[in-house]
Amino acid sequence: MRVLVTGAAGQLGSELVADLARRATGVVHGPPWLIVGLPRAELDVSFRDSVFTAVAGAEPDVIIHPAAWTNVDECEGDADRAFRVNALGTRNVAGAARLVGAHLCYISTDYVFDGRSSRPYNEWDEPNPTSVYGRSKLAGEREAGHEATIVRTAWVCGRNGANMAKTVLGLASRVGTLSFVNDQHGSPTLASDLATKIVDLALARRSGIFHVTNQGSTTWYGFAREVLRLSGHDPERVRPILTKDLYPPRAALRPKWSVLDNAALRLGREELLPPWQDALARLVAELIDG
Ligand SMILES: NC(=O)c1ccc[n+]([C@@H]2O[C@H](COP(=O)([O-])OP(=O)(O)OC[C@H]3O[C@@H](n4cnc5c(N)ncnc54)[C@H](OP(=O)(O)O)[C@@H]3O)[C@@H](O)[C@H]2O)c1
Repeated sequence: MRVLVTGAAGQLGSELVADLARRATGVVHGPPWLIVGLPRAELDVSFRDSVFTAVAGAEPDVIIHPAAWTNVDECEGDADRAFRVNALGTRNVAGAARLVGAHLCYISTDYVFDGRSSRPYNEWDEPNPTSVYGRSKLAGEREAGHEATIVRTAWVCGRNGANMAKTVLGLASRVGTLSFVNDQHGSPTLASDLATKIVDLALARRSGIFHVTNQGSTTWYGFAREVLRLSGHDPERVRPILTKDLYPPRAALRPKWSVLDNAALRLGREELLPPWQDALARLVAELIDG
């Protein structure tokens, strides 16, 4: 089994490589695995020739493609860069995958939805992105194509990279009162839980869109309270605010409702990820233990 991972130094990319490495180590019989994790410094997906050269060289069976320009607010100011990386970059990866017959797994986002729903979005709901980032990621889905595995996720937090769990822990030790919005709803998702499910789906060459998040939902206010509680701080130190009261205001419009029904897995009676509180407890323990 030969697997290539783009954006391998990212929050999710690093967990995908770690998950694959664990599986490869467990192989006793059969041919050895080859795991090629390429960080941006080694493969910029926006360069077509580089992508085709890297993929032709590795001859992967499966390509997992989490590489993306993920700075949602900066994307608003530079749509060309967002589409160059997230849309054209995915066209390049998909084209190279076709050339060597590799199965493609593309990672997408809750930001493809406008967030105006009041029930969890399933895989068959109509996307309507309200930000440049969301539009560029939706364009990436279309470039990945119908044969690909497309995993939409949300509110990802892991031990590597910047994320909201680390932000809350950092603030908890410096600031008396923390303010977090209580009008954006989503499902916090642990990068390592997500990586395992993505690898399962990708290696099984499962075509179609899959929503994959930890189960249950909260707001960023509820999330921050839980991080404080889990880290031994007083959750009452968190104050709820509204998105419109954020200062400075954010450039990109966030969906108010980002809850993804993992319907393709649920209706197929497949195992879902554990509740977000369980996942967050594991992450906070790991971050505190260093
Ligand atoms: N984080 C979330 O809450 C969330 C939610 C929904 C979906 N997603 C999706 O999940 C995937 C992984 O996100 P993440 O949280 O792991 O973000 P991340 O830590 O920013 O990882 C993305 C990686 O892609 C790399 N990258 C950027 N431009 C590139 C290019 N032109 N060529 C190759 N690599 C490039 C980045 O490298 P540099 O750091 O060097 O730029 C980074 O290592 C993304 O596709 C994202 O859209 C994330």
